[in-house]
Amino acid sequence: MARTRVVIDTDPGVDDAVAILLAVASPELDVVGITTVNGNVAVDLTTTNARRLLELARASHVPIAAGAAVPLGGPVEHAAQVHGNDGLGDLSWEEPSISIDSRDAVDLISDLADEGPLTLIAIGPLTNLAELVRRRPETVAKLERVVIMGGASFMGNVTAVAEFNVWADPEAAAVVAAQEWPVTWLPLDVTHQVWLDDHDIDVFGSWGTELGDRLAGMLRPYANFYESVTGVRHTIMHDALAIYEVIAPGAISSDVAGVNVECGGDFARGMTIFDRRGVDRQSNHRVGASVDRARFTALLHERLARLNDFLRD
Ligand code: RIB
Ligand code: CA
Repeated sequence: MARTRVVIDTDPGVDDAVAILLAVASPELDVVGITTVNGNVAVDLTTTNARRLLELARASHVPIAAGAAVPLGGPVEHAAQVHGNDGLGDLSWEEPSISIDSRDAVDLISDLADEGPLTLIAIGPLTNLAELVRRRPETVAKLERVVIMGGASFMGNVTAVAEFNVWADPEAAAVVAAQEWPVTWLPLDVTHQVWLDDHDIDVFGSWGTELGDRLAGMLRPYANFYESVTGVRHTIMHDALAIYEVIAPGAISSDVAGVNVECGGDFARGMTIFDRRGVDRQSNHRVGASVDRARFTALLHERLARLNDFLRD
């Protein structure tokens, strides 16, 4: 089976952590790079967290390059109330020994795209992608596809209409939406269809291994956050769904759409407008619509258990 070369642009982030572990555990993917960005926490922390996670997964061969510390426009935003002050649920970690690449995020992505077919999976604010367009416009046409966890068709999670990854840097998201690269957007409307509950978390905790303890340790405070906001302990697997889209082509239904991002306004800054009317049939952009939670969750458990067995041996 030909493996898909992927680079993951990320702001770990508890759900990013599950996504990264799922990716390195899946034989369909060849994770050839991780790039980090300011988002859930500052970029020095998202970079440290990427190092922690790849060390945990014994994937130290994967280069990690740091990216943007601030958004293109607007203030620096974080989500420590969701992911903890360190971005991974505030567990205690040894200092990771993995070093970071000498290149920055844009240069690493560009070099990886020069080396062969590459899928870019973006699961944080889109600042690095906008910088890639500005500094390496020739790379836009080289990328095989882009998968983005971002946006919301109906209801936001930071404001009534804005989802965090777009809200944290709407100017960057607008640059990304204006490119003709083949993009699949996975907005909140579809990511909210996949979640883990306390039973899923208890499975990880029952393994008695570092991976299981880290997963349970990160996900329990994440479940506490969701319970405080929604009254239900469902931890939404926003970012892991972006990995699933590449692992299981066709498992997520999607529609062609024109995509615009609101950057002004008093109430709608960071809103994504997915135009599914068909007026722009030539759009290379698709928007995820529905997914089977049971299939997603079964694959996630199978892959994380496989990684756990590998690490235990
Ligand atoms: O809105 C959800 C997104 O914002 C996820 O990528 C989560 O990690 C946060 O970055
Ligand atoms: Ca994220």
